[in-house]
Amino acid sequence: MDPTRNPYTPGAGRTPPALVGRASELSAGDLLVQRTASGLSGRSMMLYGLRGVGKTVLLNELRRRADAAGWLTAMVEAKHDRKGADQARARLARELTSAARSAQPWRTKASDKVKAALGTIESFSVKAGVGPFSATATVAPSGRAASGNLELDLEDLVADVVPALRESSIAMALFIDEIQDLDASMLSALLSAQHRAAQNDWPFYVFGAGLPVVPATLAEARSYAERQFDYRHIDRLSAEDARTALASPAATAGARFDPEALDLLLGSAHGYPYFLQVYGDQAWQCSPNSPIQVGDARLAIELGTDELDRSLFASRWERATPKQKQLMAAMAVDAAPSTVADLVTRLGKRKPSDLSVFRDELIKKGLIYAPERGLLDFTVPLMADFIQRHSNEL
Ligand SMILES: Nc1ncnc2c1ncn2[C@@H]1O[C@H](COP(=O)(O)OP(=O)(O)OP(=O)(O)O)[C@@H](O)[C@H]1O
Ligand SMILES: [Mg+2]
Repeated sequence: MDPTRNPYTPGAGRTPPALVGRASELSAGDLLVQRTASGLSGRSMMLYGLRGVGKTVLLNELRRRADAAGWLTAMVEAKHDRKGADQARARLARELTSAARSAQPWRTKASDKVKAALGTIESFSVKAGVGPFSATATVAPSGRAASGNLELDLEDLVADVVPALRESSIAMALFIDEIQDLDASMLSALLSAQHRAAQNDWPFYVFGAGLPVVPATLAEARSYAERQFDYRHIDRLSAEDARTALASPAATAGARFDPEALDLLLGSAHGYPYFLQVYGDQAWQCSPNSPIQVGDARLAIELGTDELDRSLFASRWERATPKQKQLMAAMAVDAAPSTVADLVTRLGKRKPSDLSVFRDELIKKGLIYAPERGLLDFTVPLMADFIQRHSNEL
């Protein structure tokens, strides 16, 4: 069908035509915005789940709503940086500076408190090797939040920004995607700044998103992190929501599915948002006209599966070393999470610690995780099927 009207959005972080099944997280975000406008506080939110379930697009939408309320927001995608904390600080500083410059209430109301806040953001940034920008602004770096100790500096920063935020009934929020990859000292510093803010009812929030290891990673960084966040497990869509995610964008674009064709596509996507977008996109391309027929759906599943193999699975598989691949291939035999005990036997090892190096490396690479002690599973949905499908060539 007409490619210019194709509504599907396969691809990391691409805003879907309908953000289905996330009403609860969105209303929690809206509630926080409303409470902030009334001078009340609430809890930061942490999204975690498998690859491709829609964490990034949800985080983006939460940020968009905070921006629309005039909040001071900054978004960072964490990466394993070689320069660690310095790099993480520089990225955050760059984002914060640009957020502070564009925050609507602050552009119109340059009170003393706003100037003080901007001065602190400026000196925090200069210390990070970003700026100064004062040549074009009326604000000079205040010298605060610039000790070089990340934890103290972040606390200063938040403390100095809060009075200016309160004046306009807005909040400051940092949105950190792939938070499991954030430099450890930056993560600890952020958690303690957030903790202090919560204790004081300050309008400062951290919204994070990442893999299923996130709750454990945060708890390890700071023992109180468990209580600090509204943790949300972002899962595959329910059968009904998956149907909506596939059928409603087509309907809006003036096309429909033959019911059997829709069922076939839904059966292959297993409710995973990324899969739904890939199969929807292919079905649109394969179908000469509406309605999308069973034959179109069959072809779309074949082509879509090829595309997923290339885009989602193969790139991740190739990141593993031969030994790590052996461990993943042994895991792929199981339909459910593998027990470490079974893997030890299957790989002809003697004890669990014989596997722990590869296990830890794969966890660090974000390819597997431990849903519980003694269990291992893939972070990419249906990765086991991919490995089995290609067991001859891999
Ligand atoms: N609620 C939803 N309804 C329909 N499609 C969605 C939904 N959420 C995300 N998608 C689609 O799913 C795909 C993956 O989304 P996204 O990149 O946000 O996932 P992710 O969880 O961040 O993945 P990763 O762990 O790889 O970063 C995109 O193609 C997006 O358009
Ligand atoms: Mg993502």
